[in-house]
Amino acid sequence: MTLDLSPKEISPLPLGVERTPQGVLTFSGISLKELAAHYGTPLYVLSADVARQRAREILHAFQKVLGPRIYVSYAMKALYIPAFLAALKDLPLHFDAASAGEVLAAQKAGIGPGRLRLHGNNKTDGELRLAAGGGVGEVIVDNLDELSRWLSLSPKEGVRFTLRVAPGISPDTHEYIATGGRGGKFGLDLESGEALLALREAQRGGLPIRGLHAHLGSQIQDPFLYGKALEKLLDLRAAWAGETGRWLEEVNVGGGAAVRYGKENELSPETWAQALADALARRPWREPRPVVGIEPGRAIAAPAGLTLYEVGDGHRVDGFVPVVAVDGGMGDNIRPALYGAHYEAARVEAGTANDEEATHLVGRYCESGDILLREALLPRLRRGDLLAMFLTGAYTHPMAMAYNGIPRAAAVLLEEGRHSLVWRRETEEDLFRFHRMAPWQETS
Ligand SMILES: Cc1ncc(COP(=O)(O)O)c(C=O)c1O
Repeated sequence: MTLDLSPKEISPLPLGVERTPQGVLTFSGISLKELAAHYGTPLYVLSADVARQRAREILHAFQKVLGPRIYVSYAMKALYIPAFLAALKDLPLHFDAASAGEVLAAQKAGIGPGRLRLHGNNKTDGELRLAAGGGVGEVIVDNLDELSRWLSLSPKEGVRFTLRVAPGISPDTHEYIATGGRGGKFGLDLESGEALLALREAQRGGLPIRGLHAHLGSQIQDPFLYGKALEKLLDLRAAWAGETGRWLEEVNVGGGAAVRYGKENELSPETWAQALADALARRPWREPRPVVGIEPGRAIAAPAGLTLYEVGDGHRVDGFVPVVAVDGGMGDNIRPALYGAHYEAARVEAGTANDEEATHLVGRYCESGDILLREALLPRLRRGDLLAMFLTGAYTHPMAMAYNGIPRAAAVLLEEGRHSLVWRRETEEDLFRFHRMAPWQETS
């Protein structure tokens, strides 16, 4: 039997993924076949080594290009399993939470409040109170309603706050993950003057504003858009300085850097940082330089994860692309069904030469849109084969659901040749932990 490792192998294999001479895929040096046998499938396989490597690459690129006045905040919404967060804890990162639940995830990972930043539109009063009491180090206020609620809370000294601006920039990405345009649900409109109005309101409220923020969206490949966003924020900062004589300390251009899922190009940390450096270099020399922040989520978490599936039933009709089902699907990865996200996959054990065919890889959920990969060139799959779908570390586990009464998958963390279960597999019994048999209450 000849092992078919190239040229049809995905090339290059994702960071941390290799094939042994025997043709078995490994991640972070650990055999995926062994992990499947140990923990079952579907399984989220997360690598602390890859996550740290990605975070370090981003930190180094930004420090190298922009100097020390930068900070990087990991957007926990991409993946907030506490053991995964703990793997990032020793790096000089901040951590963005989108809710009190994500703040709790960070607490469980032992991350102190000073490193936490609270985001989100329509934060609850409870979340704002948590922040005001010092539960986080910084709040990013999303809109005027939230601003007045925030100002009424008399936040504890030292809790910083920043205003989120909608800069009117629409990236070329799926509309569900584009957030920087006008008239959407996030941020204070820049062009109409709403953002400037918010600055004045905040000033009247007597609270010092730390800075300005914008997040354009996700899976952004064009670095120029970041330069443009930074420029718009700096223009607003300069206008504010003209009005008050005060230069805001911080400007944050959000996250969203694209990863290479297959068809898309990665936005490298160096290119991303350079786009910001170029925008800064175009500013008048007299303008004081702000601290520049970024908030990558996907760029750290996506390559740090893959999903292991076992192949189940297949189905062939003459004249149509063969359909092969795996034991997971939209319940563990909603992204292909939600916004047509594209991935790559490979069989864990290399195939014999020339047995590839275009295949629709589908899940086991009762939706015809439950298609993980469309017309993917895969070896001819048979029941029991193991399949690895790459770069699934971001926006999969946090979006998992138990549709069809199918329990959610487990997650295992790999680090320096060791593995550990960090999210146990749900059971059918777990699905009913909130259920009650209608204990009726009489109305008075
Ligand atoms: C405000 C904010 N910052 C950062 C991110 C992270 O984006 P990404 O994971 O694409 O880097 C998001 C994602 O939605 C976001 O809403």
